[in-house]
Amino acid sequence: MRKTNLLLTGVCLLCLAASANAQDATVTVYDSGTGVVIPAEIYGQFSEHLGRCIYGGLWVGKDSSVPNVEGYRKDVFDALKKLKVPVMRWPGGCFADDYHWMDGIGPQEKRARISNNNWGGTMEDNSFGTHEFLNLCEMLDIEPYISGNVGSGSVEEMAKWVEYMTSSSKSTMAELRRANGRDKPWKVKYFGIGNEAWGCGGNMTPEYYSDLFRRYGTYLRNYDGNRLYQIASGASETDYNWTEVLMKNIGSKMRGVSLHYYTNPGGWSGSKGSATKFSDNEYWSLLSKTLEVENILKRHIEIMDKYDPQGRVDLLLDEWGTWFDTEPGTNPGHLYQQNTMRDAIVAALNFDIFHKYTRRLKMANIAQVVNVLQAMILTNETQMVLTPTYHVFEMYNVHQNAEYLETECVTRKIKTNRPAPVPEVDATASRKDGLIHISLVNTDIKKSKKVLVNFDNAAAAKNILSARVLTSADVHDYNDFSSPEVVAPAAFKDYKVVKSGLELTLPPCSVVVMEAK
Ligand code: AHR
Repeated sequence: MRKTNLLLTGVCLLCLAASANAQDATVTVYDSGTGVVIPAEIYGQFSEHLGRCIYGGLWVGKDSSVPNVEGYRKDVFDALKKLKVPVMRWPGGCFADDYHWMDGIGPQEKRARISNNNWGGTMEDNSFGTHEFLNLCEMLDIEPYISGNVGSGSVEEMAKWVEYMTSSSKSTMAELRRANGRDKPWKVKYFGIGNEAWGCGGNMTPEYYSDLFRRYGTYLRNYDGNRLYQIASGASETDYNWTEVLMKNIGSKMRGVSLHYYTNPGGWSGSKGSATKFSDNEYWSLLSKTLEVENILKRHIEIMDKYDPQGRVDLLLDEWGTWFDTEPGTNPGHLYQQNTMRDAIVAALNFDIFHKYTRRLKMANIAQVVNVLQAMILTNETQMVLTPTYHVFEMYNVHQNAEYLETECVTRKIKTNRPAPVPEVDATASRKDGLIHISLVNTDIKKSKKVLVNFDNAAAAKNILSARVLTSADVHDYNDFSSPEVVAPAAFKDYKVVKSGLELTLPPCSVVVMEAK
């Protein structure tokens, strides 16, 4: 582990309310319930034609020597099945506004070869297209989320794409789909009208984009019982004006509006820092940066509440996650980064926040599923590793479609060089089918934490059915192709049921998920 001299100048103990007893933190789970369901879509994924996300990640093609299921990598396919991915966004990102869907249909050898200009100018042979994406979703029971091209496409092109995918008629588009081997239309619910329209999606103003949204949206039809959920390209981070203008101008037209927030330590210019080499100060600062999403969500939601008090329009955080410098020796345009226990803590803290805002926040898609940014999975030729982030997604998937239970966590908070103080212990909980799941995080990389978990119905804690922990000796630890199991979930035993609830000791830098009845 790196030498940690520079303890944060202001590591300060903001609230030390657990002092009266031996606990470092007290968590209260209000298991009388909220009636609010955590949408499974909060655990969504994002897959873009970027680097090795699609090619070599999801797709190797049927003739590949890499074991595959109809062209999809078998190891990745199986890992995604276990993850219970609810929704996956495709084909971008920035790539979406350069993507012409007709390039990616029909016989593979005849498909257009283009330069992927957003991402390193890599040759794109379009061998993964509409059929390959939608069939994958169908096989894995994933809801597809298509991002349409506003930036360099046309209304006609987008309208025909929807018809091609979803119409069961004898129209030219539906017949073309049949000629390409798919008789039955697919069900496509989520449809994004552009991506980052303020930037790579066309450098527009919100006023101009609002008008385009109206125009494009008009021609995206609902064919044969398919109901499109139209999503507007939303704000980046703190661009509250973008949300304000969209809510005012197209609040009655869109079903959802997106938001992008990345946890990038150095901002957008210059170095973003290494994914694996960081000081203690950089660790705390990064957690603080990720926690800023809470305030950002609140502010966007306040604006949405003002224009839409009935909650008709959903907020979708359809890109989030850590963004570091690319791994040395890799193509800088491919955004390939390693993934340590720090990323696992980031993922868990984000879920704890997302759960609180699901009254309005209905989807979140981490960037990205394989080999790009905060990936679930990394591949190298025939090898695959599951990242610490994958394990958090897998452990937390018990919260999908469960009733959100409010929790209160009294713990010390670490002050950093950024505005949001970092709690040493964090928690979230939910209930489904009579089972309560409690997730706990210890952000302290050096010390274990004694935690008391109370329930307002104490009987809830009597029976612990399972408990798992994700931790590692060093926060810099990661899984790679020579040692793929350095960070992996294990049984958690350091707890006991006491009169007032549960007493447990969280190891340093850990994520624990417990199931209680
Ligand atoms: O996820 C990588 C890129 O980040 C996406 O293509 C874009 O939408 C965002 O800027």
